[in-house]
Amino acid sequence: MSTEAIPNLTAFDEAALDQAFAALEQQARAAAAALDTPEAVEAYRLQWLGRKQGRLNEVSSRWLKAAPAEAKKALGQRFNALKAVVESLLDAALGAGPSDAALAAEALDITLPGTRRLTGAEHPITRTLNEIVSVFAALGYSVGVGPEVETDFYNFEGMNFPPGHPARDTQDTLVVAGQERRAQRDRLLLRTHTSPVQMRTMELQPPPVRIVIPGKVHRNDAADATHSPIFHQVEGLCVDTNITFSDLKGTLDHAMKALFGSSVKTRFFPSFFPFTEPSADVQISCIFCGGKGCRKCKQSGWIELLGCGMVDPAVFAFAGEKQPAYDPKKISGFAFGMGVERIAMMKYGVSEIGQFYAGDMRFLGQFV
Ligand code: PHE
Repeated sequence: MSTEAIPNLTAFDEAALDQAFAALEQQARAAAAALDTPEAVEAYRLQWLGRKQGRLNEVSSRWLKAAPAEAKKALGQRFNALKAVVESLLDAALGAGPSDAALAAEALDITLPGTRRLTGAEHPITRTLNEIVSVFAALGYSVGVGPEVETDFYNFEGMNFPPGHPARDTQDTLVVAGQERRAQRDRLLLRTHTSPVQMRTMELQPPPVRIVIPGKVHRNDAADATHSPIFHQVEGLCVDTNITFSDLKGTLDHAMKALFGSSVKTRFFPSFFPFTEPSADVQISCIFCGGKGCRKCKQSGWIELLGCGMVDPAVFAFAGEKQPAYDPKKISGFAFGMGVERIAMMKYGVSEIGQFYAGDMRFLGQFV
């Protein structure tokens, strides 16, 4: 490519200008004809059109400035014409793409194996969570969420764990520091269950309610094969007139069959939660031995899977402060809460809860 310096012009008559611009145009055309790689095209662009050191810029500063006033117009016209020529040469070079020689060197070998791109997949916890939610969605339940950083009121007091109540000890958690000046019910903590969203839902809407609430919860539990200080739950709440324990049993029996297969049986064992009365633990017939008794079910034939019960009137009384329609004399309801990890471990035969969080592709890849 020509790198001849731009000479100074001594004569500015038409003939001298024609000659000077013709010489430049010839150089530009010769250089453009030799362009054979994208890099060379770019270098050409910089050499001719570059804002600071480009040749056209130099022509303009050397010639146009030196020209007497009466020659400026003629010079400017030729300058613009030359610039248009260079630009069209550049366009042609860009459009032409690589030369045949360059193409031959880079020819695409379609017999080479392609680059494999891994497709993402749902994490087994997300998958199980969505599966549980869709079982209830099919029964007409809506889906809600609530905050993970919760107030003492929603996590405990409104769910009928008064301050100092021993049941609070079973759900110890992390509390946000520096809140001593706040009233106890306004203090923030990491929620220990999804049950506070029961109250948040009722405060926002009068009955009837049918809602499931998936989410992350936190407890001061030492990690072991089946416990993690952070895990997931799906909460359920159904409130209407004449909701009975039979409705609760029928609903959860159906849900367990939908999740684990139609041969699964359920049984309801008396239990205690401050926010339900009566309360029950739901057990399903052992899915590993079919109920005969094995190591997994500790020879009992049953596996405990979730907590549930009829909504305690004290909870309706708290909700009634904002929504008077939650009058325990007129309505009733049931609630349930299940651990997503526990259900995923059963469904997929996972024996260490920590596998869900380790991010090991050898584990996660099995769920694709
Ligand atoms: N919130 C309870 C727990 O985390 C589960 C539960 C929910 C029990 C709803 C009864 C009703 O242990």
